[in-house]
Amino acid sequence: MLLKTFCIHFTGDFAAIFLIVGISLAVSNVFEHFAQSMVKKEVVLKNGTEVFEAWENPPAPVYMQFYFFNLTNPQEMLDGERPAVVEIGPYTYREYRPMEEVIFQDNGTKVTAVNTKTYIFQPNMSWGPESDLIRTVNIPAITVMENFKNHTVLANLISAYMKSKAEGLFVTRTVGELLWGYEDGLLKAIKLFIHDLDDVFGLFYKSNASNDGEYVFFTGQQNYKDFARVDTWNGSSSLNWWTSDECNMINGTNGASFHPVITKDEMLYMFSSDLCRSLYALYEEDVTVKGIPGYRFIPPSTVFANLTVNPANAGFCVPTGNCLGSGLLNVSPCKNGAPIIMSSPHFYQADEKYVKDVFGMNPEKEQHETTIDINPLTGFILQAAKRLQVNVYVEKISTFSQTGNVRTVVFPVVYLNESVVIDDTSATKLKVIVVEHNVLVNIPFMLIGAGIILGIIFMFLICQKKPPESTAADEEPLLTS
Ligand SMILES: *[C@@H]1O[C@H](CO)[C@@H](O)[C@H](O)[C@H]1NC(C)=O
Ligand SMILES: *[C@@H]1O[C@H](CO)[C@@H](O)[C@H](O)[C@H]1NC(C)=O
Ligand SMILES: *[C@@H]1O[C@H](CO)[C@@H](O)[C@H](O)[C@H]1NC(C)=O
Ligand SMILES: *[C@@H]1O[C@H](CO)[C@@H](O)[C@H](O)[C@H]1NC(C)=O
Ligand SMILES: *[C@@H]1O[C@H](CO)[C@@H](O)[C@H](O)[C@H]1NC(C)=O
Ligand SMILES: *[C@@H]1O[C@H](CO)[C@@H](O)[C@H](O)[C@H]1NC(C)=O
Ligand SMILES: *[C@@H]1O[C@H](CO)[C@@H](O)[C@H](O)[C@H]1NC(C)=O
Repeated sequence: MLLKTFCIHFTGDFAAIFLIVGISLAVSNVFEHFAQSMVKKEVVLKNGTEVFEAWENPPAPVYMQFYFFNLTNPQEMLDGERPAVVEIGPYTYREYRPMEEVIFQDNGTKVTAVNTKTYIFQPNMSWGPESDLIRTVNIPAITVMENFKNHTVLANLISAYMKSKAEGLFVTRTVGELLWGYEDGLLKAIKLFIHDLDDVFGLFYKSNASNDGEYVFFTGQQNYKDFARVDTWNGSSSLNWWTSDECNMINGTNGASFHPVITKDEMLYMFSSDLCRSLYALYEEDVTVKGIPGYRFIPPSTVFANLTVNPANAGFCVPTGNCLGSGLLNVSPCKNGAPIIMSSPHFYQADEKYVKDVFGMNPEKEQHETTIDINPLTGFILQAAKRLQVNVYVEKISTFSQTGNVRTVVFPVVYLNESVVIDDTSATKLKVIVVEHNVLVNIPFMLIGAGIILGIIFMFLICQKKPPESTAADEEPLLTS
């Protein structure tokens, strides 16, 4: 009898203790903070750690895929009709981007490195060989015509030269030439007068097997939020990168800076050399990649917005003085004056006008938006796809008969999808971390659960302990009635 009473008290006390401890731990978030601080301490660039190895030599394959727009009606376009294009692709390259010349500095708080990118063609993942022919607008010629259109004498000379060489508004070149460069006859002729001109043109000319200078990164040792964040690039402070309207600062990397324990209302900055500026991304939804939870971030539509919506686009008005509509970004200042305009593929999220101006555009959210999925606990990228389209501003230039009666149009040349998905080995490791974290942060709830179960047992025992007479007395009125 004594033992039984002792057991009941014991159960009751433990139920109470488990409940109080469990609830106070749950409310104070101790385990959450503890688990997060473990990750924060772990995610630092330090020689010998897995995080460092993954940063130095990213294990997940990065693919760069190009989709060209083949022009089908050049004569009609010259006569003033809307251009009609057919999308052809992908032409896929595996992108290798190791960190090289890595040197730790300042007691391990910073690290310097160069980021060399190499592109290797993947025939098995491509529509055809790099020798496929694409008909598109003649970008070097358009650049020359735009730059000389107001010098009547020079314009006439150049126009006559172009006529003699049968150079016009369009070219048919191979995929390899358009991407990695070809010697252009017109540029070569002009080079005779302007000696420092480069007579090779290619959308990604000089991008292969080259680096864009020295970066200094924070290792995250002092502050986890600085993990792998760029401190300086070629000696200039990254602080100016996104405040500067011009591209003078940012020809930089495609890297993004993430750190462990991110929140939904975090803004993520990505640096994009193709855009000559940085982009930022906002939380959109929860996703799961290879069984690992992630937050999806996407650039807000205002990144490309027109002047009314986003005054930061003020620096991006086409040479004629007209500012561009929503969804376009003029990057000619950082493309040697070539009238290049960036947008999302198929003018996704751009003014309806640009979609309608070109026959063959078909914008779709899933296919054409830029996304980054990040594991919030560790800040690791689970999956990402950067999607951008390269367009050329085409207009009738009266001093050049080569432009015929062409209507003013933002002509799509190619779009790219630079994508990565976490590799299986890293995914397995990351899953272990996530599961351990979940177990740890659920300890208070397990205690609460145990407390509740013990409480129920306690109640049960108390009821059983009640003397049988009292039960009978309770039931008496029922029996008499
Ligand atoms: C990292 O450590 C290895 C072996 O101790 C050494 O060979 C290597 O140079 C170190 N790397 C850096 C960037 O310090
Ligand atoms: C590195 O650490 C040592 C000893 O802690 C200190 O004397 C030195 O000033 C530090 N150097 C830098 C650049 O922080
Ligand atoms: C890039 O450079 C590497 C090594 O120099 C070479 O193997 C590869 O074919 C090049 N890729 C292209 C697209 O030219
Ligand atoms: C693109 O169009 C040109 C001209 O019609 C044609 O010769 C070429 O084969 C097309 N390219 C592809 C890859 O289909
Ligand atoms: C800018 O975009 C907004 C919304 O898309 C539109 O209402 C406005 O007319 C545009 N302004 C100009 C100058 O194009
Ligand atoms: C960026 O690139 C453009 C054109 O390639 C060049 O004119 C400019 O000087 C570069 N800026 C820097 C800071 O290197
Ligand atoms: C890249 O994006 C394109 C559409 O923009 C899509 O068709 C393609 O499958 C994507 N590539 C990868 C590897 O996800």
